[in-house]
Amino acid sequence: MNIHTYEKLWLVAAMVLIVAFIGTITYGSVGLGIAMVGDDSDSIDPNDVLDDEEFGDPGVQQVGEDEYEVYVRAQTFAFIPGTTEPIEIPEDSEVTFHVTSPDVIHSFSVVGTNVNTMVIPGEVASMTVEFDEPGEYGLVCNEYCGSQHHEMEGLLVVTPEDEFDLTELSVTGDDEVALGDEVELTATVSNGLLEDLETTVSAEIGGEELEEDVTVPGEGETEVTFTVDADDLGEGDHDWTITVDGYEDSGQVTVVENLEDEESADGEDDNDDTEENDE
Ligand code: CUA
Repeated sequence: MNIHTYEKLWLVAAMVLIVAFIGTITYGSVGLGIAMVGDDSDSIDPNDVLDDEEFGDPGVQQVGEDEYEVYVRAQTFAFIPGTTEPIEIPEDSEVTFHVTSPDVIHSFSVVGTNVNTMVIPGEVASMTVEFDEPGEYGLVCNEYCGSQHHEMEGLLVVTPEDEFDLTELSVTGDDEVALGDEVELTATVSNGLLEDLETTVSAEIGGEELEEDVTVPGEGETEVTFTVDADDLGEGDHDWTITVDGYEDSGQVTVVENLEDEESADGEDDNDDTEENDE
């Protein structure tokens, strides 16, 4: 059988096209490494999200020199963290986001990057991005999730490396101390970075200034206790402030003449008692 040359050419061209179509579809679904949510990601019972080790208290964790993991809860109608406080990460870092929802379907989109995933209750969506330069990125929810869907947004801040830390400060101490006793405030400084943190904790208690140098181990915490004689402060209210690396906690301590008397008087009538003392 004789096939015309042009017909042969068209047959070959059609074959090449078919192979090319199959090739591009295969490359697009496998070669680019695009994974569907739920494909290789973890699952989690939506009812357990709030009690989960990571998602119960979500935030930024350092896992390598320039590698961070960020756990985010997308819930009606906020990203936690992200909405009330921005997610902060340093420049030149590789960041893996893990996002899940305890309630309905949301999305987690970092505007200006290719992070844009559906967040399905019961599934943990994970994706990795590199941030080279400091900057700010908006976070938005692209899935209709309820009446406040349009207000579900947040902020991601990429900070210069030397401005980044994962330090937290919390202070405990008595509200009321009797004359003759000591005012004692305990500051707990925690360091979420892998490297040790060398810093100074400063305290100002009723005008008295104290400070202590500390080394907080990586992924650890250190307690510092500041004490001042209540006699040195004298009776009355005294403000205190404790600071470390730009973090601050403050409060007030009241020095009273005698703790037991004050407490029993409190039980009866607080206001009358104060007036009597003043006279
Ligand atoms: Cu969450 Cu829309």
